[in-house]
Amino acid sequence: MTTRDLPPSVIATLPGGHYTDERLFALEQEHIFESMWFCAVRASDLGRPGAFRTVQVGRESVLVTRARDGSVRAFLNVCRHRGARLRTEESGEVKRAFQCPYHAWTYDLDGRLVAAPNLTRMPDIDRVEYGLINVHVREWLGYVWVCLAGEPPSFEADVVGEVRTRLGDEELIGNYGVDALAVGRRIVYDVKANWKLIVENFMECYHCATIHPELTEVLPEFAGGYAAQSFVGHGARFGEDVQGFTVDGSEGVERIPGVSEDQDRRYYAITIKPQVFVNLVPDHVIIHRMFPLAVDRTVVECDWLFREDVVAEGRDLGPSVELFHRVNAQDFEACERCQPAMSSRAYARGGVLVPSEHHIGVFHDWVLGRLARASV
Ligand code: FES
Ligand code: FE
Repeated sequence: MTTRDLPPSVIATLPGGHYTDERLFALEQEHIFESMWFCAVRASDLGRPGAFRTVQVGRESVLVTRARDGSVRAFLNVCRHRGARLRTEESGEVKRAFQCPYHAWTYDLDGRLVAAPNLTRMPDIDRVEYGLINVHVREWLGYVWVCLAGEPPSFEADVVGEVRTRLGDEELIGNYGVDALAVGRRIVYDVKANWKLIVENFMECYHCATIHPELTEVLPEFAGGYAAQSFVGHGARFGEDVQGFTVDGSEGVERIPGVSEDQDRRYYAITIKPQVFVNLVPDHVIIHRMFPLAVDRTVVECDWLFREDVVAEGRDLGPSVELFHRVNAQDFEACERCQPAMSSRAYARGGVLVPSEHHIGVFHDWVLGRLARASV
């Protein structure tokens, strides 16, 4: 993995350059984020036809919208005339079409070119041919997943299958009815760190005792350092005196109806490659979506999802949200502490993974394997 000469029992991290090199980041954008299914938008953010969001997927801006028939559509956010960005806002709503602000080419919600000044005098401009470029979409867990690849990989195998394999049982996540839950709170974190530092941090709990006092209070097994914040398939038990997954251990809100007795008072977590972390607790689900924007900058959009009636009734979600918001803030501060040091000569050949972090080496191998595709 590195050129470093270490005893066989010591596993090295990636060298610092993997977190700072623009060319490597561009390869990751191409061979990871632009090639795999990417969790882009909460479907409920697209309330009605014409509602849209723009999201950065790899090096592309993607426009995700709802068509008149209610289906979700996604397009490259690029006008086919002279290439202007169609929309620059993060979200908004159009009545029935996207009109380019430059020369007023107009596309309907299915991406067809429907109008342009003097179009009738331009017989060579085929309206179908010059429609917006389609991006593949799927909906799952109440999110819109997009894929920029010409031939997308199997969603069932790569996304649903990964969850099934990791949790051992698809029902385990199915019980939470994630697609029917409502967004109780969303916090967007602009993290000045490479996306891999964020994944690596989520993958280990060696840091939990040091930086997560509230989380280790609720989940005592995390204090030992051997858990992984991002993969808990067995269900970490709440502490004896803990009433709910809240910042002070107080009772949360009503349990999600499908959650089984076995799943009560437990925390499950899973990573869906390449950019999603899912946390499941009895009364809510936390979904993180990462948007790697630059080699040293990653936006993380985190949704706290609760039962619809709980959100509609305006119940106090504060103590529930505050717990993982603090965890996020603590984690992202740690990542930002590491990022500047990635370009230090002290880290030119990387650091080491202690035994409870060895599984991070598997993630590194996976990343390197994706990059190796660049050279074949
Ligand atoms: Fe969009 Fe000209 S660039 S209409
Ligand atoms: Fe953490």
